[in-house]
Amino acid sequence: MKTQLFNNAADVQADLLVVFVPSEGELPAATAQADEKVQGQITALREQTVFKGSVAQTLLLPSVVEGQPALLLVGTGKEALSDMNAKKVIAAIGTQIKGLPYATVAVAATGLSVKNRDQKNITTLLAQWLNEAFYEFLGFKQSDADKVTKVETLLIEGSDQAALDIGVATASGSAFTRQLGNLPGNVCTPAYLASKAQHLGEEFGIDIELLDETKMDELGMHCLLSVGRGSDQPSYLIVMHYRGGKEDEAPHVLLGKGITFDTGGISLKPGAKMDEMKYDMCGAASVFGTMKAICELKPALNFTAVIAAAENMPSARATKPGDVVRTMSGKTVEVLNTDAEGRLVLCDALTYIERFKPQSVVDIATLTGACIVALGSVNSGMYANKQDVADALKAAGGEAADKLWQMPLDEEYQQQLDSNFADMGNIGGPEAGSVTAACFLSRFTESYPWAHLDIAGTAWTGGAAKGASGRPVGLLTQYLLSKAN
Ligand code: BES
Ligand code: MN
Ligand code: ZN
Repeated sequence: MKTQLFNNAADVQADLLVVFVPSEGELPAATAQADEKVQGQITALREQTVFKGSVAQTLLLPSVVEGQPALLLVGTGKEALSDMNAKKVIAAIGTQIKGLPYATVAVAATGLSVKNRDQKNITTLLAQWLNEAFYEFLGFKQSDADKVTKVETLLIEGSDQAALDIGVATASGSAFTRQLGNLPGNVCTPAYLASKAQHLGEEFGIDIELLDETKMDELGMHCLLSVGRGSDQPSYLIVMHYRGGKEDEAPHVLLGKGITFDTGGISLKPGAKMDEMKYDMCGAASVFGTMKAICELKPALNFTAVIAAAENMPSARATKPGDVVRTMSGKTVEVLNTDAEGRLVLCDALTYIERFKPQSVVDIATLTGACIVALGSVNSGMYANKQDVADALKAAGGEAADKLWQMPLDEEYQQQLDSNFADMGNIGGPEAGSVTAACFLSRFTESYPWAHLDIAGTAWTGGAAKGASGRPVGLLTQYLLSKAN
């Protein structure tokens, strides 16, 4: 599907025209023009309260005149939309159009107003959310062939090509993230993630380095290796370099937790919903998606992506509770719970990253159930050792409508990690579980500006609508764009 801009809804060539209808007051210009062409039907339907224009209500008016587009009326309520409601409105468009035979769909975007957002910003979000609304996981059902969207061209009213490009690239990145996230653990292994990096390298000409277990052993990454020890799938550290900036300019680094399945290891998780632990590589998937978006947008900056990939399994060879492992930094860790494995793979990757002398490092991880208890699925949890990194991430989250909430890293929490037998334990007890996980990581990030995003609550949806969300690709893409020259 390609996405393009158009500038006048009155003469746009399309099979279907989407127009926005508020529940009261004047119709937006493009909607009023469409209303004229259908002899005032839109006004009549609203007056008769058949179509009231309430938020995300939809009604399809088929075309009865040759050459005129069909109309999809979409309600926007009585005032400018909140981000939450704007998302609902766009999702409703996707739901309506999927499966219909319209090849060219035009959206009269100037009829949409969103609180605290200008037209440029709305163009980006609309392009992103509309494209995301057409995402379907394809792969394993016999009926998948019928599901492919019929829309070939999506036309969005507006004039800012750069704004459109950001939205389209973000959606392309988030689709990649969702696809990787939704793949089952028997397909998406650490080696599979490594092969995806090589594909990105071939597609976009970026440099890829793969560190296998032998290489990581030589480097002393025993803490990372301790996690994959029980698995038959070898672990990998995957590094991708996007070089769009000056040669001598230090990179911004994103690091993703890539546990392709988390059974808990010897500290085995209970069976209910354990399938969802295939999503424990969503941090890695979001870094892949962001790399794709950045490669498509080609901003002027240097950006290095690192993935710590392993499978956490119990076996006779697996790490046991009480085992002590040495990290690449030289610090030792008593593994009190093998289910707190994310921090064990990340800490060695964080030490490895020192060699890039980074301007900033952001790690992204489905790290703790405690973060879901604290923030639910609305905000990602964010921790930082430098407030300007935190502020830049907050601003990016606002821009992308991809929310985060800053959490504390006070020194007082650190003592929960004290161990009698090693420099630290890998768990901090029942209190403040998301904070103590971040405290653990902070001990490996002292040499550069760093932030940590706990996306355990935001990376996927459980239940009937089970699926990866693609978050926080929007936030990360905006963050990197804000660092470009
Ligand atoms: N991947 C999980 C965190 C998680 C759990 C994310 C549920 C999303 C939903 C992580 O590896 C883990 O198991 N964390 C433990 C840490 C604990 C043992 C200190 C947790 O949160 O229970
Ligand atoms: Mn775990
Ligand atoms: Zn995990």
